[in-house]
Amino acid sequence: MTIEETTEAPAAAGSGAAAQGAATTAGRAFDVERVLAALTLEEKASLLSGLDFWTTQPVDRDGVAVPGVMVTDGPHGLRKQAETPDHLGLGTSVPATCFPPAATLGSTWDPALLRRVGEALGRETRVNDVAVLLGPGINIKRSPLNGRNFEYLSEDPVISGELGTALVAGIQSQGVGTSLKHFAANNQEADRMRVSADVDERTLREIYLPGFERVVKRAQPWTVMCSYNKINDVYASQNHWLLTEVLRDEWGFEGLVVSDWGAVRDRGAAVAAGLDLEMPASGGRTDAEVVAAVRAGTLDEAVVDVAARRVLRLVARSLPALDAAAASGENFDVDAHHALAREAAAAGTVLLKNDPVDEAPLLPLASADGVAVVGELARTPRYQGAGSSQVNPTRLDDALSALRTATGAEVPFAAGYTVDGADAGSGTDAAALLAEAAEVARAAGTVLVFLGLPASYESEGFDRAHMDLPAEQVALLEAVAAVNPRVVVVLANGSAVSVAAWRHLAPAVVEGWLGGQAGGSAVVDVLLGAVNPAGRLAETIPLRLQDNPSYGNFPGELGHVRYGEGLLVGYRWYDARQADVAYPFGHGLSYTTFAYDGVAAEVLRPASGADDTTADDAVVRVTVTVTNTGERSGAEVVQVYVGDPESQAQRPERELKAFAKVDLEPGESREVTLDLVGRDLAYWHPVLRRWVVEGGEFVISVGASSRDLRGSATVVVEGEDVRLPLEPLSTVAEAMAHPVVGPRIQALVHGGAVAEDMLGMIGDMPLTVVADFGMGGFDRDGLTALLAEANG
Ligand code: BGC
Repeated sequence: MTIEETTEAPAAAGSGAAAQGAATTAGRAFDVERVLAALTLEEKASLLSGLDFWTTQPVDRDGVAVPGVMVTDGPHGLRKQAETPDHLGLGTSVPATCFPPAATLGSTWDPALLRRVGEALGRETRVNDVAVLLGPGINIKRSPLNGRNFEYLSEDPVISGELGTALVAGIQSQGVGTSLKHFAANNQEADRMRVSADVDERTLREIYLPGFERVVKRAQPWTVMCSYNKINDVYASQNHWLLTEVLRDEWGFEGLVVSDWGAVRDRGAAVAAGLDLEMPASGGRTDAEVVAAVRAGTLDEAVVDVAARRVLRLVARSLPALDAAAASGENFDVDAHHALAREAAAAGTVLLKNDPVDEAPLLPLASADGVAVVGELARTPRYQGAGSSQVNPTRLDDALSALRTATGAEVPFAAGYTVDGADAGSGTDAAALLAEAAEVARAAGTVLVFLGLPASYESEGFDRAHMDLPAEQVALLEAVAAVNPRVVVVLANGSAVSVAAWRHLAPAVVEGWLGGQAGGSAVVDVLLGAVNPAGRLAETIPLRLQDNPSYGNFPGELGHVRYGEGLLVGYRWYDARQADVAYPFGHGLSYTTFAYDGVAAEVLRPASGADDTTADDAVVRVTVTVTNTGERSGAEVVQVYVGDPESQAQRPERELKAFAKVDLEPGESREVTLDLVGRDLAYWHPVLRRWVVEGGEFVISVGASSRDLRGSATVVVEGEDVRLPLEPLSTVAEAMAHPVVGPRIQALVHGGAVAEDMLGMIGDMPLTVVADFGMGGFDRDGLTALLAEANG
């Protein structure tokens, strides 16, 4: 994607007024290169930080008129603050559609839907005169305890990258920008502004970076937001390797890097590392530091020019859409966006369990006759998380009213518990609330029990202390189940909660996540069967927190968090250990059933780790026929996992590499084709420091979840013969495996008498030691000659 720049003459006047909330005027376009050439060092430095909390600095003087533009949170709705600004969602903001947060969007596994959500977000951004929506957030869910997991899509980089791409493309199709965040390895809130994420490069490349890489390469976000934390002791904001070598030089990022709010410690180092725009305003302090660094000769003015150019381009590329929106006075369709929010929330709802009771599952509900609702969250929904992403919704649906409206039934209700200490209406005495709910449940045919995490449990700024629901909510479920076996639990939470202790009490469990402003009606759509659930878990629900791979290494201490589990994040860990989980990654039931037939994989051409994005890069074509074998139309998410059992490197058992959501009518069959590129087979070689595809066998598994594989095919792919150069410290075993000198060394060591059992003892001995001990029939000079021959 190329950056749109205009060649129109600089606007004469009025553009300095483009600060927060100001009406825009037509004709503000300017020529980036001409302006840049005309700016003083001080003016260029001023462009590199904010004017205030949300606006870039304007330049307005004779002959130069660069407006400031507004950037604003994000990610699942616009948080444009009209009055007091803050980055924690404390102050009020203009009404905007609160779409479901990322935890819910991630569970849709539906890029086409997220593209439409993105378009709506982009429209709201544009008509509100905002140039950049600060999102999406695509950090990997390393631990269920991360207080901000609700803002992130998945524990898996393919899901995060695919869905992130769709959101970015959708938002930017409206002429405004995005900020892909938080780059990178920001996987906890504890100590988030200082902590060093200590993580090896292979794990970064295979788990924590590829989501970003995919979005950058496929959708070119206008901006990337660096994270607060350090990565291996270097602040993300000052990390030249991350912000310049990886992001720009390797991935081809064309946009601007903005700091997270307050993430910059050393402004000169940050500019040099590739951090273009510091937010929010520093009151001119850091602008002066940049000027001083240039004058002192420690920062090249050309580097300042590069960053200033990127800010100018950002402003220039946003003006056409903002000015057109202001001129036309367009607005967004509140009803249509609410309807889309409802569709997205229903699509992200995951039916975890739907066991038969008296031979039939409880869901979908045949009608509301005899149905009772308990749980305060049915009446007072928790629909988004706290912090900078908190949107002021245009309206708010609650499940209780939605159920009553949809069915016309007078559905009995009891609060059962209070949320965050609020008065539930009949007093806050826990025992009385419980007794009242049990009474309502006893009289009902089926009971819908709404449970979930209160806002005080999960938020930006701190991590969760445990994975459990509040004890009073579990007590409510026990009280209800004791008097009525027909129990449906409906959950509201931004990240996995433990279910093992109570799920046997509920034949049906619906994971509604945080549904956004229409979450209440969306979950009712699913309960009543108006929508057939097709959400799939984008994060594993473990049996116990202690089973989670980061346990013991989260959230770290003394300023460091060690990513000790390496590549084995989420399902990769549980699969490696063959450990039971409550609900596996990719799981989600439907009101219909699907059959998989004829899983096949065809190799199209040799593979290389450099092939990663385009359809032309396809190396393996996977096909499977999926049939809707039930009586309702529904959607299945076909998941393709790849394993490399013969690799020299330790690799996860299997990894998600492709997926497709397919709508099928009852009885309908469809052949689904999914292509894998070289990168889907590759691993990051830590010594060669590049992607490699080792030639050989790969196992391609196709299924309905990571633990419900319905078929597999083994393919042999021509790839690299991955081999490191031999050196004096190479071992006997490594040398023997070498195709050129291996047989010679075999013949030399111990006079060719290295039997299998002997190899076990000396296999790990370095060649130089063999030479020194005289065990190899070669001395050091002989070894040098052998190595020269081996390495060509
Ligand atoms: C958050 C960002 C957010 C920014 C501005 C920071 O605290 O980490 O995600 O965009 O504030 O509100």
